[in-house]
Amino acid sequence: MNTSAVLEACRSLRILVIGDVMLDHYIWGEVNRISPEAPVPVLHVMRESHTAGGAANVALNLASLGATASLIGTIGDDEAGTTLARILEATAIDFSRCNIDPAVATIVKTRVIARTQQLCRIDRETTRHGYALEARANLDAMLECAVAETDAVIVSDYAKGVVTQALMDRLIALADARGLLLAVDPKPSHHLSLRGVGLITPNRHEALELAGLPEPGPGEAYPLEAICRSIHAAFAPKLLVITLGADGMALSRAGKVEHILATAARKVFDVSGAGDTVIATLTAALASGASAVEAASLANRAAGVVVSKMGTATATPEEILSPLQPEFSA
Ligand SMILES: Nc1ncnc2c1ncn2[C@@H]1O[C@H](COP(=O)(O)OP(=O)(O)OP(=O)(O)O)[C@@H](O)[C@H]1O
Ligand SMILES: [Mg+2]
Repeated sequence: MNTSAVLEACRSLRILVIGDVMLDHYIWGEVNRISPEAPVPVLHVMRESHTAGGAANVALNLASLGATASLIGTIGDDEAGTTLARILEATAIDFSRCNIDPAVATIVKTRVIARTQQLCRIDRETTRHGYALEARANLDAMLECAVAETDAVIVSDYAKGVVTQALMDRLIALADARGLLLAVDPKPSHHLSLRGVGLITPNRHEALELAGLPEPGPGEAYPLEAICRSIHAAFAPKLLVITLGADGMALSRAGKVEHILATAARKVFDVSGAGDTVIATLTAALASGASAVEAASLANRAAGVVVSKMGTATATPEEILSPLQPEFSA
């Protein structure tokens, strides 16, 4: 399939995203002096903005591709939750199955930015068990309905509490029964078994952790082949895509490295959220019938677009197709 045909096919897809829903908040300003109170910069605030983060950013990336996205996660009954709901409504993301729970705070990441330089990040969240879906009545029936209405499922795990082994086991069984692709962006720190999942998209560090291998020492090469062998032995995903930051991504099947795709980025401003773009685009392309390498190439191009934008961002089909992005060659 060529790129335009894949992007066209994405428009008729429905994709379900389950995971840690967040609000990304940006405070933009300028620094001209150091505070007399402490040795810290004084930010003169020019503007503030909000966008969807975490699993909500995966859904936003799907919407930007033209797919119909729905979202399951937990949002607080607070101002941040209202802001997030407004963003999701404006982009036609169905969040009617999200928990709106007055007992928790909506997860917010505030990034303070002086011109283009991030000064600090301020995180707000409740303890992990607060966000879990397990306490919800009729969870099984709700998941079954949601999976019945979708063409693929993405689990976006930021280890904030939504994604548990029980949830994973349920989703693996439901996706398997319907022959659907189940893709997972993992956070290995909480040691879930992902056996039965179709696609796993760890970043460089997460892949090492999933493989149970230590960080390479200074001067030592990244053990890509050993990682792919080990993740395959542990979970046997149909496809493993390891994102390698500035080095692009590696595509592996059956424990073997099949392709390494150099980054498609021309300029890099902000890499945050690029992993969300990768899993959204890969899953949509695979569900549209693209081959693994076509899907990875498209995801790599989409990631190249979003890292060239400030803040958590998305890529449109027009931007992905723009001639500034180099063509993939195998
Ligand atoms: N510094 C960079 N230069 C060029 N391309 C980049 C850079 N960082 C990321 N990318 C692109 O974005 C993709 C995903 O990036 P990365 O491996 O950093 O994922 P990640 O750590 O999951 O990101 P995040 O958690 O911020 O969403 C890469 O495969 C690459 O295509
Ligand atoms: Mg990531």
